[in-house]
Amino acid sequence: MNSSPSFAGSVVAVAGGSSGINLGIADAFAAQGARVAVVSRSRQKLDAAVERLLIHGGEAIGFSADVRDPEAVDAALSAIHQAFGDIDVLVSGAAGNFPAPALGMSPNAFASVVDIDLRGTFHVLRSAYPYLTRPGASIINISAPQAYVPMAFQAHVCAAKAGVDMVTRVLAMEWGPAGIRVNSVVPGPVEGTEGMKRLSPTPELQQAVAESVPLGRLGTPMDIANTVMFLASPLAGYVTGAIIPVDGGWSLGGASVVAARMAKATGESD
Ligand code: NAP
Ligand code: COA
Repeated sequence: MNSSPSFAGSVVAVAGGSSGINLGIADAFAAQGARVAVVSRSRQKLDAAVERLLIHGGEAIGFSADVRDPEAVDAALSAIHQAFGDIDVLVSGAAGNFPAPALGMSPNAFASVVDIDLRGTFHVLRSAYPYLTRPGASIINISAPQAYVPMAFQAHVCAAKAGVDMVTRVLAMEWGPAGIRVNSVVPGPVEGTEGMKRLSPTPELQQAVAESVPLGRLGTPMDIANTVMFLASPLAGYVTGAIIPVDGGWSLGGASVVAARMAKATGESD
């Protein structure tokens, strides 16, 4: 990001920051000199993530917690506060996903995803609130297009992420007076990620998805991190309660795909 704001010395906490898009976000902040804490379940993944973050020469720590456990989340946020002090930027992106028809989901299967994505987000935000006292403090929730594009085999994720975006808007109202901005970033399909692997498991499917993106390519973690950093910066000081797609236009729907195919069929495009 050109002329990007500096996050040197800022404290950034990323829930679900041990891999994929969220680790890409943590890494982008670390590269800007932020002190970064990542939280997830697996100690092994956390250690690998911290090793990557430390390459930038700053400070990074990993705390293990399952976001479904409010007490563990409380302990992790308190440990971050003890290590780094108050938090400038909180990113909440822990999530689970698997494709399954509604009738192929047990009650616990549906609950697992809602518990991680939606209730987990609530736990993380609630536990972080006492530490979000710095001027300009902000929260960025990592949502998904399923929040507003109904998708077959994704009843759990659609319900959970729609809830995440509503939590974003409600807490923007409740916490605005305390000076805390709350926004959602909605990644489109991002290359090389676990989410992509689970929903589009073959190279052919991934190619088809890329072709359905108006901008003609899959996203990268850096595409997402750039918007997260914008939202966390003073450049977005008057932005709160926003739900921002970063998806190359993917969630605009099939109309552009149909148009592109028609153009191809009629020779108006390569
Ligand atoms: P990922 O690499 O699997 O990231 C998920 C992260 O959440 C991991 O760090 C995981 O670490 C952590 N996590 C999972 N369950 C947890 C739990 N119960 N408690 C604490 N941490 C937990 O997946 P990704 O594909 O990069 O997705 C990252 C985010 O982007 C998610 O919010 C997803 O919904 C969103 N998104 C992804 C895409 C995409 O194309 N990939 C598109 C739209 C939105 P542990 O296993 O160590 O717990
Ligand atoms: N189809 C249908 N049900 C499934 C399923 C699938 N592909 N995968 C898991 N489930 C069900 C399980 O059978 C279980 O239900 P049950 O107790 O009635 O049998 C329930 O979901 C929970 O599964 P479990 O493996 O016990 O949960 P977990 O807490 O260990 O893991 C998940 C949570 C299932 C979400 C797991 O996929 C995960 O940890 N994901 C994190 C990484 C990820 O999904 N990244 C992409 C983010 S976009």
